[in-house]
Amino acid sequence: MQKKLPVGILGATGMVGQRFIQLLEHHPWFEVAWLAASDRSAEKPYGEAVKWRMRTPLPRNVAEMKVSPAGPKGAPKIIFAALDADIARELEPQFADAGSAVVSNSSAWRMHPNVPLVIPEVNPDHLALIDDQTWRKQSGGFIVTNANCSAIGLVLALAPVHQKFGIEKLFVSTMQAVSGAGYPGVPSIDILSNVIPFIKNEEEKMEIETRKMLGTLKGHEVELAHFGMTAHCNRVPVEDGHTESVSIAFKKKATAEQIVEAWTSFRSLPQELKLPHAPAEPVLYDTRHDRPQPRFDVDRGNGMSSTCGRLRPCGLLDWKFTVLSHNTIRGAAGAALLNAELLKVKGYFS
Ligand SMILES: NC(=O)c1ccc[n+]([C@@H]2O[C@H](COP(=O)([O-])OP(=O)(O)OC[C@H]3O[C@@H](n4cnc5c(N)ncnc54)[C@H](OP(=O)(O)O)[C@@H]3O)[C@@H](O)[C@H]2O)c1
Repeated sequence: MQKKLPVGILGATGMVGQRFIQLLEHHPWFEVAWLAASDRSAEKPYGEAVKWRMRTPLPRNVAEMKVSPAGPKGAPKIIFAALDADIARELEPQFADAGSAVVSNSSAWRMHPNVPLVIPEVNPDHLALIDDQTWRKQSGGFIVTNANCSAIGLVLALAPVHQKFGIEKLFVSTMQAVSGAGYPGVPSIDILSNVIPFIKNEEEKMEIETRKMLGTLKGHEVELAHFGMTAHCNRVPVEDGHTESVSIAFKKKATAEQIVEAWTSFRSLPQELKLPHAPAEPVLYDTRHDRPQPRFDVDRGNGMSSTCGRLRPCGLLDWKFTVLSHNTIRGAAGAALLNAELLKVKGYFS
């Protein structure tokens, strides 16, 4: 049996950090060897520092690990980072400088021209940007990012139809779960029986990151996909799962059958390579008139599939539909894990 690669989690006590621990518990290639968080948690046993919010028990070996200070000293060569953007902007380069591969969830470096923003099913070729990073040239370290949680679920649904029909215009309105705001996140008194029509910087991130992921690698940079897009982002009292209502116009005419066929037949590199976290079907289509719903459908494909439904003609653009995805799995830790699995297969960790 091959020895597992040691990995570290930066921001290990947060919502995404906990999800990493859960998803890595039985991972065939990686094992958690190092955990770090803020000074509030450093030097404590993880089990004491964390307020464990996952529905599976905290693995005992992880509970007993000591939380390290958030610096590269003693850290492994593969780091899953789940830090707020302001902190990530400063800390992630320190790890890359020290020779670590940083697989990041934060927005800090997503739009940097040399940093890939990747969904392995959609734009695996963008990983080539790594070779232009100064960190890579000097120490072997690098930074790879996954997108904002709403953008990932959306782009998974858009990629198959963009490839076939070309998107001309896109309107999306989100209903985003509270776990997307981290822990403890939005105060319960603000969100219970309520909808908050504002999530700081979220609309801007969705609009630009969607176009980077669907963009084209030209030489040493990504040319953003050319289409008009507007996003409205709302926080709703749902625990996990971002639901999005989408209206779309295509450059080429598409029928409902062709759109559904593009979604359900969509397979890509992670499925071909049988990566451990690759869902068999990245995009599902549910024909029931009132689905997808977060309560019933958020875990489909082990939380790694986007579920579309309610495809129907749109009075304003061509078509409209609903898409649901798991924000802390496909939208965060699972996304980073799939990126790392692809990086391993492509030889970036040797
Ligand atoms: N939640 C989602 O659905 C989601 C989805 C996609 C992307 N993201 C992104 O992922 C990142 C983490 O999100 P989250 O939801 O997990 O946030 P969170 O629950 O607030 O967790 C933040 C983590 O960062 C640590 N931290 C805070 N200040 C630090 C410092 N100065 N130095 C080192 N570590 C520090 C915290 O440690 P302590 O416990 O010690 O304070 C905690 O482990 C954010 O950039 C977020 O935008 C989140």
